[in-house]
Amino acid sequence: MINVQSLSKKFGDIAAVSGISFEVKEGEVFGLLGENGAGKTTTLRMLATMLKPTSGTATMAGWDIVKEPEKVRSSIGILFGGETGLYDRLTCEENIAYFGELNDMSKTQIKERIKELAKVFNMEEYLKRRAGKLSKGMKQKVAFARAIVHDPKIMLLDEPTSGLDVSATRDVHEFIVTCKKQGKTVIFSSHSMSEVEKLCDRVAIIHKGRLVEVGTLDEIKSRHGKNDLENIFIELVGDRSESWQARMDCI
Ligand SMILES: Nc1ncnc2c1ncn2[C@@H]1O[C@H](COP(=O)(O)OP(=O)(O)OP(=O)(O)O)[C@@H](O)[C@H]1O
Ligand SMILES: [Mg+2]
Repeated sequence: MINVQSLSKKFGDIAAVSGISFEVKEGEVFGLLGENGAGKTTTLRMLATMLKPTSGTATMAGWDIVKEPEKVRSSIGILFGGETGLYDRLTCEENIAYFGELNDMSKTQIKERIKELAKVFNMEEYLKRRAGKLSKGMKQKVAFARAIVHDPKIMLLDEPTSGLDVSATRDVHEFIVTCKKQGKTVIFSSHSMSEVEKLCDRVAIIHKGRLVEVGTLDEIKSRHGKNDLENIFIELVGDRSESWQARMDCI
């Protein structure tokens, strides 16, 4: 469903992503793990066609991100960072409908779909309220609904639980599980090992723009002879606690 081929992105001298290749099969939940600045967001932005690769490419549901960006966009749903990006002055319904229109859905299709999604995310009561007046958790559910209004085959989620409390985090996790149940293919980035262990079928670890590990959790654990993903992660990206100590000793 997703085939990433030697994808690279340079920002001036900075090699943000360097020749990353991986595959994600249909219906899989795939986790991108990496430190701050590893290249996760840059990778996801290229897959979402928000950013042009310097070299390499990827196909999403068979469409090429460089040659067929419109086709790719109609096949994907996106949720980037903590910000929902909703229009405060529009109602929830209007926010979702607007995205449906952008994705060439008919008015009838949009109406039906909103009904369905309101049920799934339990937000029937506040559909007609302005988005700006809702709580964070409520807004998030509207953002979920908006991201999948056009029933995309693929979901790209960049740190979807970053900055969220326990119950909002659980909502995101349930959203990912719902997507999987509906047969969608999901890639999400995260800093949380437990989140990745809980949700992912397969994982990739990115370090300084390069892919340093990819596989199922069991494969990765047996390759490294360790049962703890955090220890494997530290082994791959390097433990910086000593250098921290050295720096702290100087002050
Ligand atoms: N628009 C940009 N212009 C210049 N450099 C950028 C730009 N976007 C990202 N970078 C650089 O690319 C590298 C990778 O950044 P990226 O945002 O992809 O990392 P990340 O893995 O998402 O990190 P985090 O976990 O902190 O979100 C960093 O060195 C960053 O400074
Ligand atoms: Mg990021």
